[in-house]
Amino acid sequence: MSGHGTPTPMSSHASTGLSGEAAIPGDKSISHRSLILGALAVGETTITGLLEGEDVLDTAKAMRAMGAEITRDDDGTWHVHGVGTGGFAEPDQVIDCGNSGTGVRLIMGAMATSPITATFTGDASLNKRPMARVTDPLALFGAQAVGRSGGRLPMTIVGARDPLPVRYEVPVPSAQVKSAVLLAGLNAPGETVVIEREATRDHSERMLAGFGATIATEVTNEGRIITLQGQPELKPQTIAVPRDPSSAAFPVCAALITEGSDILVPNIGLNPTRAGLFTTLREMGADLTYENQREEGGEPVADLRARFSPNLKGISVPPDRAASMIDEYPVLSVVAAFAEGKTEMRGVKELRVKESDRIDAMATGLRACGVTVDEGEDWWTVTGLGHGNVPGGATCETHLDHRIAMSFLILGLATRKPVSIDDGAPIATSFPVFEPLMTTLGATIRRG
Ligand code: S3P
Repeated sequence: MSGHGTPTPMSSHASTGLSGEAAIPGDKSISHRSLILGALAVGETTITGLLEGEDVLDTAKAMRAMGAEITRDDDGTWHVHGVGTGGFAEPDQVIDCGNSGTGVRLIMGAMATSPITATFTGDASLNKRPMARVTDPLALFGAQAVGRSGGRLPMTIVGARDPLPVRYEVPVPSAQVKSAVLLAGLNAPGETVVIEREATRDHSERMLAGFGATIATEVTNEGRIITLQGQPELKPQTIAVPRDPSSAAFPVCAALITEGSDILVPNIGLNPTRAGLFTTLREMGADLTYENQREEGGEPVADLRARFSPNLKGISVPPDRAASMIDEYPVLSVVAAFAEGKTEMRGVKELRVKESDRIDAMATGLRACGVTVDEGEDWWTVTGLGHGNVPGGATCETHLDHRIAMSFLILGLATRKPVSIDDGAPIATSFPVFEPLMTTLGATIRRG
């Protein structure tokens, strides 16, 4: 089992006047998909702006283990020589996906309709997470899975020799499950159809079309019906990975709660399936504006300008917005602590099966810092204390979860007493430059 080495305790301290520009790294979701689709195309895909975080590097290793040739130039340009749909080689060794649910679930999907066997593992966090949500639909294609009890990793997938196309309604709002089914459908004959009731991030659909697959989405009363024609020859692409809105969330939220702040976060993708946090913050009264709005690579993009917002108000976040901001609830709960009144977050059961149980992890740490949090199975509320009134002063457990670690470090920038975390090492999975980027903006974040 992989790990993150020695824990890295960190702390954050009252700061003022965050300023300057925050250069956010590439989007994690798009980075994983660029490597996987590049590995399934015939010829050389070139990628710039790839997120070089541990999660994505683990996916690159996995694609190499399955036969793709992947190189990186000194300037950070990546080249992927793909093996073609159905061309994966059987890996010699166990595939270690580290902390990455996206990595393991997408790769399982991508190999499940090839006649190879692969065994997957991850770190202590990933090995607790449910995989049946992916292996159930993969079984319909003819793949077999044997894992630990509860459908947990380590797990072996025996790919289908004669895969069948599938029609599958995704029972949970999950882009990972949707994408695993679509990737499996690539090597099945005929049409694979995925139905999702709630729209989740649509990068797989957009990128599959970009790589030349025939894929169509129909929006109906029952949800989105996505139809993919199997066994295409994917054509290599030149991809410029946009910057990650989920990482941009941290400096943006830091600026909103830190007195005297005014920062610019350039070039952030505002794909509606990802941008729910920014809409929510604006509804709370955040001084957050979209500058220089434009389209890049078919995606809406803007420079985000975030300024200190002393008059934030708690709101009820509409449950149908959950999928578009699912990774941002931890940092939203931090902002909510500085708002006046209660912020209600409902329809968010999925938060309990992320890198950690994110409701439990945030509720425990926020309470230790003097904030009232109420919770149920699929909801939680944070009662804000208003600017200047959040006590802080606790050490919060991060449970091998990068977003929990970063959220508590943002909290400590505006609490009365510093906030510590037991381990900041997992931050490297998604946002390796978080610490230097935040300190350059003027945040006081320390090791130890
Ligand atoms: C992701 C989908 C989401 C998200 C994760 C990335 C993706 O997970 O939480 O960080 O790239 O498809 P779910 O599909 O489990 O909601």
